[in-house]
Amino acid sequence: MSKKIKVGVIGCGRIANHAHLPSYKNNPDAEIVYVCDLIEEKAIKASNEYGGKAITDYKIILNDPEIDAISICTPNYCHASITFEALRAGKNVLCEKPAARTLDEAIEMQKVKNETGKILNIGVVNRFNDAVNKIKELVSQGELGNIHHVYMSFRSHRNIPGIGGDFTNKTVAGGGVLIDWGVHYLDLVMYVCGDPKAKTVSSEMFTVLGKNINDYVYTGMWAEDTAKFGGDGVCDVEESITGLIRTDGPVISFNGAWAQNIGEEDTFIDFMGDKAGIRLKYGGNFTLYSTKNNMLTKTTFEYKTGNMFQNEIDAYIKAIQENNDKLPSSINVNILTQEIMEAIYKSATEHKEVTL
Ligand SMILES: NC(=O)c1ccc[n+]([C@@H]2O[C@H](COP(=O)([O-])OP(=O)(O)OC[C@H]3O[C@@H](n4cnc5c(N)ncnc54)[C@H](O)[C@@H]3O)[C@@H](O)[C@H]2O)c1
Repeated sequence: MSKKIKVGVIGCGRIANHAHLPSYKNNPDAEIVYVCDLIEEKAIKASNEYGGKAITDYKIILNDPEIDAISICTPNYCHASITFEALRAGKNVLCEKPAARTLDEAIEMQKVKNETGKILNIGVVNRFNDAVNKIKELVSQGELGNIHHVYMSFRSHRNIPGIGGDFTNKTVAGGGVLIDWGVHYLDLVMYVCGDPKAKTVSSEMFTVLGKNINDYVYTGMWAEDTAKFGGDGVCDVEESITGLIRTDGPVISFNGAWAQNIGEEDTFIDFMGDKAGIRLKYGGNFTLYSTKNNMLTKTTFEYKTGNMFQNEIDAYIKAIQENNDKLPSSINVNILTQEIMEAIYKSATEHKEVTL
């Protein structure tokens, strides 16, 4: 029988409660031993729901020799620093996306991971999404032919998360809609297309609607409410962004918006090949458009899909049990995306094309 993996979860906010904690609880090979949040009530609430001891200082987890696995579910500013400490304390780490605020931080994370020989996975959870893996399979079988263009749309009407709080503060988050949502889309495209090498990047970004926090018009907010921060909060990250990445594979173009004055949600990725194309509804299913047998055909698929967060946690636990460091979400693959995002920000800041 495999050893039961003892887990500590650091940060008990939305993603911990929505994904990490329920998935660990569902995994018979995992045991939640600690739930930690700077805000004690959040740790206690998580403990009541999922078990584990409620604590406010994550160092208690790092000092406990019984703990094998950590989930870092904190805001982006402490992903790197907690990862360094955890790896050096001999723990395996699953750190939420984005790996870090900057490329330098991500490279340092990779370095410490290599020094310590522990597992460091990043929460690029689409790599555990069955629809995404089906698309990857179809692409590698040549079903789409040569993919010349991929278009990513991650646009919503009013979705700036907790404007004034952690997500809209560049020092805390490292960026806005690109680093928060775009990172998932870019990672998914790189994964499906076999990590094409980026050559040049051109982009522009905007902070228009959220600039004056108190004037931002919205009906609902999925993060902490703006009112909490009053006029004292910070919103200095991009709320929308557009750009083009030339690679040695397909050209990747994108439009992203946490907020825009267009009242439609548009969250999809189009893979355009010379034999066929695929539209993937982000987080949902996909449609294949082809000209097979000289007919314009539109195919939708039916198959059983698992919960990608559960798949991600199950794979992490199994990797620790088997001492297998080959998961598709390893820090190594995230360096590429982090490099491209950094170039996108540089291009938008300098208003010119950037060569990688
Ligand atoms: N994979 C995904 O699809 C996905 C979805 C949402 C968020 N995320 C990522 O997860 C991270 C957290 O996002 P969230 O929406 O859960 O935010 P959140 O604000 O709801 O939760 C973060 C929690 O971390 C706690 N915290 C902050 N610093 C801490 C520390 N030093 N020690 C212990 N606790 C600390 C906060 O008190 C808060 O409760 C972000 O990096 C975000 O990008 C990933």
